[in-house]
Amino acid sequence: MINFGNEVRNMSLLIKNIKSLAGIEEKGREIFSGKEMSSVGCLDDSFLIISDDKISEFGTMEQFRISDFGSQISEEIDASGKFVLPCWVDSHTHLVFASSREQEFMDRLHGLSYQEIANRGGGILNSANKLRAASEEELYESAWNRLNEIMMQGTGAVEIKSGYGLDKASELKMLNVISRLKKNHPLTIQSTFLGAHAVPLEYKDNKEKYMDLLISEMLPEIAEKKLADYCDVFCEEGYFTKAETIRILEAAKGYGILPKVHAEQLSHSGGIEAGVETGAISVDHLEYCNDKDISLLKNSVTMPTILPGAQFFLQLPFPPARKMIDAGLPLAIASDYNPGSSPSGNMNLMVALACIQYQLTPEEAINAATINSAYAMGISKTHGTITKGKKANVFITKEIPSLAYLPYSFGNTLIETVIINGKIENRS
Ligand code: NIG
Ligand code: FE
Repeated sequence: MINFGNEVRNMSLLIKNIKSLAGIEEKGREIFSGKEMSSVGCLDDSFLIISDDKISEFGTMEQFRISDFGSQISEEIDASGKFVLPCWVDSHTHLVFASSREQEFMDRLHGLSYQEIANRGGGILNSANKLRAASEEELYESAWNRLNEIMMQGTGAVEIKSGYGLDKASELKMLNVISRLKKNHPLTIQSTFLGAHAVPLEYKDNKEKYMDLLISEMLPEIAEKKLADYCDVFCEEGYFTKAETIRILEAAKGYGILPKVHAEQLSHSGGIEAGVETGAISVDHLEYCNDKDISLLKNSVTMPTILPGAQFFLQLPFPPARKMIDAGLPLAIASDYNPGSSPSGNMNLMVALACIQYQLTPEEAINAATINSAYAMGISKTHGTITKGKKANVFITKEIPSLAYLPYSFGNTLIETVIINGKIENRS
């Protein structure tokens, strides 16, 4: 008889006859780099036991049959023909917003660029106008619905940024919404202050003054009220320079708020350098990442993160994702869910786009969208793999032939059941 210990408690959910349990990590790694990304730990014909909100046991069905777990199970799911994976982790979103921007989408179809639209008051400033006019309650409710939507698509943890307020009251309103979502929604949420998303119209000719407002007025109050886990800056031509990015991020670090950077999205602007120099947890976008940036990232604690939805939607150049992994770097995938550059938070689609467009293997893309994305939002000790003691945030697929079928069958709904904190949130 195999002894699994007496860990299994009363409220236990058994998933049995799993075709393959994928994303197993027993060595406790919290980041997968280079070649490590090319394999996903799998156990065929297996079971998984969830006790309360944690993963408590897994093994083969053979091991299950000769154990005495049966007596302790309160509910069971038969996953014959189905895969079980750790939920997606989405380390970059702007999912608190007041309204959609399909008019700008149509303008782009008629030939205008994202920058041209921004220059005539569209883009982030358009979203800021709408958000300033919206009530906290409206924002909370629409963001709540978006969280439900991504949860049903298999996301178990998500980072959410402010950055559509661009004045003190409206940035605080956004961060309050995120803080309430954090308390009340079952998804694991991290909050990021992105006051430096754009220079608001009223400071158009006085960016210095807006920087002062960010650093001397907004940050201290946000820190005191513990409203942000991270601070982000849009380092880009026409937004914030490398030096300004560093200044803001260093100020945030002074309050114990860790840096993240929107880097090299529309041009090469030094965002990766700013991120590495300030010890950012991630640098995101990376369409204009060059060889020097790749070398810099190699000696850093910073997770390069690609956002395939925004690259695809804005038809930007491909980020050098393949090159980064081949150079031995880790890589994360996130959705960038926002009304302007990625109106989708569907991580299944992001994984498929990374494979189809950037030639990641399905295994690399899955590791990028789970454990590495968990690192990029500081939760890889508790999320992102099937590991005993980690949060029981997992999804069960429909009957599918292989793991590769997930990105191959792009755009199709292949997730049948989502379990968050050990609770079944949907069963189709
Ligand atoms: O991540 N790049 C800057 N910020 C967002 C876009 C925001 C918007 O257009 O509303 C992004 O792509
Ligand atoms: Fe973004």
